[in-house]
Amino acid sequence: MKTLVVGNWKMNKTVAAATAFVHELLALQPDLSAAEAVVCPPFTALPAVAYACAGSEISVGAQTMHWAPHGAYTGEVSAPMLVSLGVQWVILGHSERRAFAAESDESINRKVVAALAAGLVPIVAVGETAEEHAAGLASERVCAQTRAAFAGVSAFDVATCVVAYEPIWAIGTGKIDSPEGANATMGAIRGAVEGLTYARILYGGSVKPDNIAALVAQPNIDGALVGGASLEAASFAAILHNARKGALA
Ligand code: PGA
Repeated sequence: MKTLVVGNWKMNKTVAAATAFVHELLALQPDLSAAEAVVCPPFTALPAVAYACAGSEISVGAQTMHWAPHGAYTGEVSAPMLVSLGVQWVILGHSERRAFAAESDESINRKVVAALAAGLVPIVAVGETAEEHAAGLASERVCAQTRAAFAGVSAFDVATCVVAYEPIWAIGTGKIDSPEGANATMGAIRGAVEGLTYARILYGGSVKPDNIAALVAQPNIDGALVGGASLEAASFAAILHNARKGALA
């Protein structure tokens, strides 16, 4: 399976800036022979980005969604609405949403189930705090989040999902877990839920063009969820290029 690189733009880019990014990225002709590219713009830019990416090998994801298909949930967006735009992926349970939008393990599980039912690929984000990491509790914490996210989901469906391991202390800080340390924690995640042996597991948190190759060289690291370094087309293209398994060799 190809390495997967997902750009999480968070609350960045107007429609014009998002469209310009796609045109710039396509003009750079990124190497997609061994790495698959997904961009996740804010909701407002999703239609324009989906249109700009149509017919290319770049696919589009959302940064969150509601678990209900429709209803009285002011300000929310549902899975069928995303599907109607051509969106194929959705990040669920990002630590910023767990922190700022009070997303619980239970609501994330409902979202995973709803995303799968609508035909979206969930990218389930899990991660430990600096304190948990220092206390040696990283694996325990992220395995518990992973088991909760996939509760009641069949192993067959789990295998089609993506998990993003993002240590909270590594997000936007310039610090990364050591490739070996991340690999060990991600191995634990793989073993936490039946079906994850076959799923792609991404590393996230301060991934850049110059550290991606060492990360994906690890057996349990199938790609990356990238925030800051996904905002410039040249840097995103460089990550895609360096994300080939064996790029270090
Ligand atoms: P970062 O963000 O690459 O800017 O650290 C990653 C993320 O939050 O997904």
